[in-house]
Amino acid sequence: MEVENRFITIKASIDGFPQLSDFEVKTETLSLSFGVGNKQVVLVKNLYVSIDPYQLNRMKSQSSSQTVLSFASPIIPGEAIDTYGVGRVVESDKPDFQKGDLVVGLLSWGEYTIVKEGTILNKLDPMGLPLPHHVGTLGVSGLTAYGGFFEVCKPKKGETVFVSAASGSVGCLVGQYAKLFGCYVVGCAGSQKKVDFLKEELGFDDAFNYKEETDLKSALKRYFPGGIDIYFDNVGGEMLEAAVANMNTFGRVAVCGVISEYTGNGKRAAPNMLDVLYKSITIQGFLVRNYMKLYTDFFSTTMEHLQTGKMKAPTDISWGLESVPSAFIGLFLGDNVGKKIVQIADE
Ligand SMILES: NC(=O)c1ccc[n+]([C@@H]2O[C@H](COP(=O)([O-])OP(=O)(O)OC[C@H]3O[C@@H](n4cnc5c(N)ncnc54)[C@H](OP(=O)(O)O)[C@@H]3O)[C@@H](O)[C@H]2O)c1
Repeated sequence: MEVENRFITIKASIDGFPQLSDFEVKTETLSLSFGVGNKQVVLVKNLYVSIDPYQLNRMKSQSSSQTVLSFASPIIPGEAIDTYGVGRVVESDKPDFQKGDLVVGLLSWGEYTIVKEGTILNKLDPMGLPLPHHVGTLGVSGLTAYGGFFEVCKPKKGETVFVSAASGSVGCLVGQYAKLFGCYVVGCAGSQKKVDFLKEELGFDDAFNYKEETDLKSALKRYFPGGIDIYFDNVGGEMLEAAVANMNTFGRVAVCGVISEYTGNGKRAAPNMLDVLYKSITIQGFLVRNYMKLYTDFFSTTMEHLQTGKMKAPTDISWGLESVPSAFIGLFLGDNVGKKIVQIADE
């Protein structure tokens, strides 16, 4: 069987802030016969695909991230861009996948994906939850939040937790795990609407709009008069410096992401190392793949929280393949609330 596949690609490497003109839609013909030599491949029709900030680091002509991990390998201009997503099997050479099966795994920013042997692909039982939940909250974003918060931050009940990009995909889950665990949680986000959402919908103890603060160090002093025990960092830059200045002794900083530094326009964080030294602060970067061993525990805990209504799974969905570039650029403009996903086709 052959299908015409329209997919999104970059025209050339992107080394600054991404623009719509950096992207184009291309068409190719896909067929399972192309898998000869790569036996046991599955042709998937993509339904929902994940939109993630780290892809920008893959689009650069050079980035330290590209040399560390296979999934962060450089994106070649003109070629399909792989991403996490949910789809439906169209044809399979693999006995454990049948036509019509729902699947979750590494798909692409396109209408179809040929998933080769060795690539992450699992059958999906939605367990009564909407399919987009399996892309974000029960997928990579969720495991990142869970592993980063419980394993890197090592929380204790009653501790104070600060989360940046708190209304985003990872941040909004970190804040909810922290509240359920018994911490005092403050988030920052880029608009009053997001701040209201964090406090009124997600149960954060407090939140503020960082874009309205002229002095981030004093702002954090105001929100944490007794200091910060845990900082879950999604943004880097000046916010990391301000958080370190407000950390308590033996404070922990989980460096999940530094989105303010991805576009090349932002300030590189230079936290005061005397604070780090004299307050015995731990600053630890981590990657979700370090915590794959927690997947079963993460999935059952999070599923239960969602089913009992203790947790929410904010999701921000755009429609259609053509919206992928604007959805992606929107991450760096703060357009999204919750997990950014593009729906490629009807379920
Ligand atoms: N370590 C890992 O394995 C791992 C896995 C997944 C994600 N991550 C990282 O985690 C972070 C969050 O990812 P996500 O998928 O959950 O994205 P997201 O938070 O859903 O979306 C990005 C958000 O970042 C904020 N932002 C954008 N530019 C900013 C800037 N210059 N300064 C401050 N905030 C900015 C925006 O919200 P505002 O309106 O608040 O500005 C935007 O909505 C990213 O840094 C990402 O790379 C790491």
